[in-house]
Amino acid sequence: MVDDIQHIHSYYSPNDLYNKIIAGLNKLGKDLSQVTLDDLQPVDEFHIRGDTATRELIKLSGFTSDMHILDVGCGIGGSTRRLSHETGCTVTGIDLSDAYIDTARRLTELIDMQDRVRFHAASALDLPFADNSFDGVWSLQMNMNVEDKLAWLVETCRVLRPGGRAVLYEVCGHKNSPLYFPVPWAQDGSMSFLLQPEAFRGVITSAGFDIEVWNDKTDLAQKAFAEVQEPVGESELPVLGVYLLVGKDIKTKAYNLHRNLDEGRVSLIETVAVKPEDQSSGQSEQ
Ligand SMILES: C[S@@+](CC[C@H](N)C(=O)[O-])C[C@H]1O[C@@H](n2cnc3c(N)ncnc32)[C@H](O)[C@@H]1O
Repeated sequence: MVDDIQHIHSYYSPNDLYNKIIAGLNKLGKDLSQVTLDDLQPVDEFHIRGDTATRELIKLSGFTSDMHILDVGCGIGGSTRRLSHETGCTVTGIDLSDAYIDTARRLTELIDMQDRVRFHAASALDLPFADNSFDGVWSLQMNMNVEDKLAWLVETCRVLRPGGRAVLYEVCGHKNSPLYFPVPWAQDGSMSFLLQPEAFRGVITSAGFDIEVWNDKTDLAQKAFAEVQEPVGESELPVLGVYLLVGKDIKTKAYNLHRNLDEGRVSLIETVAVKPEDQSSGQSEQ
């Protein structure tokens, strides 16, 4: 792995994650032969507004059962499975973290979706797929860890077929900076690379996409985090939660995200970008 993203890989590499989730399900009294997507949702949808946002993005996507979709930066695959479950499409998820990919595969087998949902450990900057091989792309809150956003989006455009849509749900910067750290995606500033929304939009079009939908969802993110208080001392964590993915300081991370949203330091963008029909791969010739 390239040295400059090794620390990002390490951040997303918890030990024994699958067994910790199984222990949590057992503690909650779930029958392991009948685990549902809803049972996993507290731990496997690691993005702002969780499953509510996933369902909104599925509606926005227009993805259908005959399609093969690529989920870039899929985490442990919560929204990957939900997307396939709701639309009937086949989804391939990739993520930098081997630990997440191992867990994603095992959870998918646990709920018997492995025929339509597959996973590979890979970097978004070097996708192990041929040009034009997916009908759609889906990427939820990964861009924050990617410094070279043009390289990521050119690579995304390359593997998408002409006319295909990329659904991106991404944290961006805002008018004020710097951020308060740690946040859920980064322990410190060496792992977090946020562009202002308009600059992010510019990189998407430079990579060869046309923007079809552009929605600022910052107000909904602010509402979702409005009640988050500054943690005092050691407080209890739920049996299942995203702290299993990124550490027990999750309450501090959530509080800092709340402050960053309220003080105009981060924003939340939902966009659908389309690869033009006349483009067979990657960046447009200009
Ligand atoms: C905040 S999590 C979001 C996970 C998932 N999309 C979700 O919504 O549950 C960010 C994810 O991006 C992945 N990631 C970060 N940089 C990456 C890269 N260069 N290539 C692939 N995945 C990456 C991390 O490993 C992590 O799983």
